[in-house]
Amino acid sequence: MAKAWFKNRLNDPYLKKSRAEDYRSRAAYKLEEIDEKYKLIKPGSKILDLGAAPGSWSQYALRKAGGKAKIIAIDLLEVRPIDGVTILQGDIRDADNQAKIIELAAGKLDIILSDMAPDTTGVHYADTENSAMLVHLALDIAEKLLKPGGSFVAKVFEGAEYQALLQRTKKLFGFAKSFNPKASLNRSRELFLVAQQFKGPAACKPQT
Ligand SMILES: C[S@@+](CC[C@H](N)C(=O)[O-])C[C@H]1O[C@@H](n2cnc3c(N)ncnc32)[C@H](O)[C@@H]1O
Repeated sequence: MAKAWFKNRLNDPYLKKSRAEDYRSRAAYKLEEIDEKYKLIKPGSKILDLGAAPGSWSQYALRKAGGKAKIIAIDLLEVRPIDGVTILQGDIRDADNQAKIIELAAGKLDIILSDMAPDTTGVHYADTENSAMLVHLALDIAEKLLKPGGSFVAKVFEGAEYQALLQRTKKLFGFAKSFNPKASLNRSRELFLVAQQFKGPAACKPQT
């Protein structure tokens, strides 16, 4: 089992490419695929990167959005500095960290990215529920911080909560779809929710 894992890793084209292109992780190519398909990141975009460590999504976003971009990144783990990215270390579930992000954003954002993944327990139900909670949290933040017309990407472990997440996303955005990048590992059950055309505050009011 461990032998097969090492062999797969050695032959992983995304890993080789990430080293050649100086990305901190092969995850960069998942965002690249999403971005190439949906054309999300534009020069000067203001972006929040949730669950950023070790930093390859921020690196990709910065390369794509250029020097005038504003990128804020947060993770529970330390992210080594990236010139041009404002990095916070902490838990996004913590209200103080959310307040810091609102202050740093100083206005609304064009894109919210979340590659957050909970620590897995091996219990499918618990893992998918924890992943869905993180996506709901990212959507709560989008409701507060995204510009009308803005975009949203979030990783989610496929499970019982997925349809409810997709429905919520569809209420908030003009376009919402799930996407399965080729760069996701075959054994992985992750999907990416991709949403565009945020409808703005009117869509966020609770339905009566
Ligand atoms: C798959 S990794 C992200 C990889 C990253 N996108 C990259 O390209 O380098 C998932 C990250 O989510 C982070 N994470 C999970 N829960 C979090 C939380 N509540 N607050 C902040 N970060 C969280 C983890 O610490 C982990 O580093």
